[in-house]
Amino acid sequence: MSSRLPGFYKLDPDTRLERVLEAAALDPALGSSWREGGLSLELADRMIENVVGTFRLPTGVAVNMLVNGRDVLVPMVVEEPSVVAAVGNMARIARQAGGFQASSDASVMIGQIELRDVRDPAATVAALEPHVERLSALGDARLPELVGLGGGIRGMELRILRYDEPGEEPSDLVILHFFLDCLDAMGANMVNTVAEALAPELEAITGERVGLRILSNLADRRLARARVVLPAELLGDARFSGAEVAEGVAGAWRFAWADPYRAATHNKGIMNGVDPVVIATGNDWRAMEAGAHAFAARSGVYKPLTTWKVDRAGALVGTIELPVQVGTVGGTLRMHPTVRANIALLGVQHAGELAEIIAAVGLAQNLGALKALATTGIQEGHMRLHARSVAVQAGAAGPEVAALVAALVAARDFSDARARQELAALRGGSA
Ligand code: MEV
Repeated sequence: MSSRLPGFYKLDPDTRLERVLEAAALDPALGSSWREGGLSLELADRMIENVVGTFRLPTGVAVNMLVNGRDVLVPMVVEEPSVVAAVGNMARIARQAGGFQASSDASVMIGQIELRDVRDPAATVAALEPHVERLSALGDARLPELVGLGGGIRGMELRILRYDEPGEEPSDLVILHFFLDCLDAMGANMVNTVAEALAPELEAITGERVGLRILSNLADRRLARARVVLPAELLGDARFSGAEVAEGVAGAWRFAWADPYRAATHNKGIMNGVDPVVIATGNDWRAMEAGAHAFAARSGVYKPLTTWKVDRAGALVGTIELPVQVGTVGGTLRMHPTVRANIALLGVQHAGELAEIIAAVGLAQNLGALKALATTGIQEGHMRLHARSVAVQAGAAGPEVAALVAALVAARDFSDARARQELAALRGGSA
């Protein structure tokens, strides 16, 4: 299948859905999952508490993505204009250079068990060390299904921390980290099950008191990464040379590296790509956000999650690395028909594949934002989209829409009155 669907954006939603189903060779019956066949009230009522209804957001499909040599159509659930278009546009450029190369770690989540107000931290660690293997076996025993499939505990680590906030009574903490390979699940429930099961053992071994037992969303053992190399000649347009664009993007990245105020916005742009796919696939976008930003600050200073540099040959080289804690099985994924359809559209079998696509989409999105910021500014693209809705509201239909948008953009006037006037002119009336 090819994710290259020229003119996709010009189609109406029904035709787009047909094209997507056809391109991904999906059962046409699945089509209703994106429409009224989505989340029913009955299912919603089983998902959370106090349900009174459901909430809709647009699903768009980003075209042109090529990740590890595989064409992929990417469903994105998002309210912000330009996001889906930017991924498709950047992916169209990238595919001419082989697309995105991505990789991911095993799905290893971290669980934390806290021993609080510990009297002798070093002695507590020494007491726990000989039990690590037994504790791992106990943890695995709580998850026979996962272990049967090849997942389970992949090690433990003991950490001594000190609470020493100025002006307060200091105290010592010993934290046991366990690493759980959750395979294709996001894994929060499994991690928390193991944490709660092991806690009484830790108390029995040490005679100390357990505090919290919970996963860490700083999932830095579950990273995904993507890379793209774009020869400068692919980046230019009528107004800017490829070299200008490449250097502009690299310069924008250097600003983000040097300044947390800019890095926050830079990373927000990355999450513009990441979150819509995380949501479309029924995953926990708060976990994803928390992990991404904590990882960005891991050096003690908040940094961009991507890098953009111009290499010796003048090509723009982009990379991204971030924790991607998503699953392709379990929880919402089992219940929500649209989530199942989105996963089928992506054609992913494993959490790692999904993580790699998410990393690549984050990188593409970031490139779209930086390229626009470094050249025309982002308002031009936004205005074009805004002009489109003004044109439709003024009554433009079919080919009139594009012509009216062009007229409004040229006039830099997006008022309803101007749109009606220009439309009358297009139809042969007087402007
Ligand atoms: C807007 O949603 C995202 C951007 O601000 C990202 C960026 O500045 O890099 C355009």
